[in-house]
Amino acid sequence: MEVPCVRAPREEGEATRQRLADADLIDDEYELTVDDGSLYIPIADPDAVPAEFEVVSRTLEERETQTTPADLLGFEPSYERLGRAALLDEDDDERAREIADAIVASDLPLETVLNKASKVKGETRVRDWELLAGANTEVVHREYGCEFLLDLAEVYFSPRLATERNRVVEQITADEHVFDMFAGVGPFVIPIAKRGAECVGVDVNPDAIDYLRENARRNGVEDRVTAICDDVRNLVAGSSRERCECDGVREVTPEYEGWADRVVMNLPHSADEFLEAAVTVAGDDCVLHYYDIQHEDDPFGPGERAIREAAEPAYDVSVETERVVRSYAPHELNVCLDVRLER
Ligand SMILES: C[S@@+](CC[C@H](N)C(=O)[O-])C[C@H]1O[C@@H](n2cnc3c(N)ncnc32)[C@H](O)[C@@H]1O
Repeated sequence: MEVPCVRAPREEGEATRQRLADADLIDDEYELTVDDGSLYIPIADPDAVPAEFEVVSRTLEERETQTTPADLLGFEPSYERLGRAALLDEDDDERAREIADAIVASDLPLETVLNKASKVKGETRVRDWELLAGANTEVVHREYGCEFLLDLAEVYFSPRLATERNRVVEQITADEHVFDMFAGVGPFVIPIAKRGAECVGVDVNPDAIDYLRENARRNGVEDRVTAICDDVRNLVAGSSRERCECDGVREVTPEYEGWADRVVMNLPHSADEFLEAAVTVAGDDCVLHYYDIQHEDDPFGPGERAIREAAEPAYDVSVETERVVRSYAPHELNVCLDVRLER
């Protein structure tokens, strides 16, 4: 069957294969092949292949079938993959253990199995996990050419938003100042900085900020990333909120007032409470990426009204994009509004 492949000179073949494997880009369903002095490596996502590699189309053999968890279980288990971890959402403990055993015994490159043990909780949106296999809850996840280290038991992270994050990242130009108000471990901040923008990421969770700093180093963008552990409302002069403890007490930072060309607000249940802070950091011409969860009958109206209330009349407000990111619950949608504020 014809599949997209990276073609590499044979002598560079292993180094190329290793780099593509590190970026999780190799399609495991097909065999690699050598022909005419070149190695052909099957690719799962040709658009994510770095420009330095040559992508061609070529007929490759399908792999001898691997033993999958379904082969061992006799049914298709449901789980998400995050790096080398499988994430289950099983209420029945016995079934969860059976699935975990099958995942580890299968040929899939998965060594950790975690089962959701609570909903996401509180301000930091972290959930509890039961560790069913593997050493701990720390994983390395790769997304659109960036690498993220994170501990699922200490920070919020969802791989489901990867496509949406990339939609935002692709809008960035190198001269921008971008302010991520709820940065987590940096899945917006890191790729945005990789595009050459100056990026500030704020999070109230000290573990998230530690991972954000580590991820900036891993991806070689620490020079363009400033990570601040705080309640983002404390960056607004006059706020009465408590600071978090991780960085000690810092001065209010008026340096970010009017600083941003773009503000990312990914705290969907309560972003409206932070619009005053967003308007404070917004520059004269600034785009807000405002995430919200609303009823399907009017998914964008409440967000637009809240933004207008916070920004007008100081700014002209225009909604540039209304986008449904995913279904969140029956009749509830996770949406994003891209909104331009012009002073
Ligand atoms: C839904 S998560 C999004 C994280 C990240 N942007 C992502 O896409 O994975 C929201 C994040 O906001 C942080 N957070 C919640 N309230 C905050 C506040 N008042 N100030 C700063 N960060 C806050 C949480 O700790 C959490 O990491």
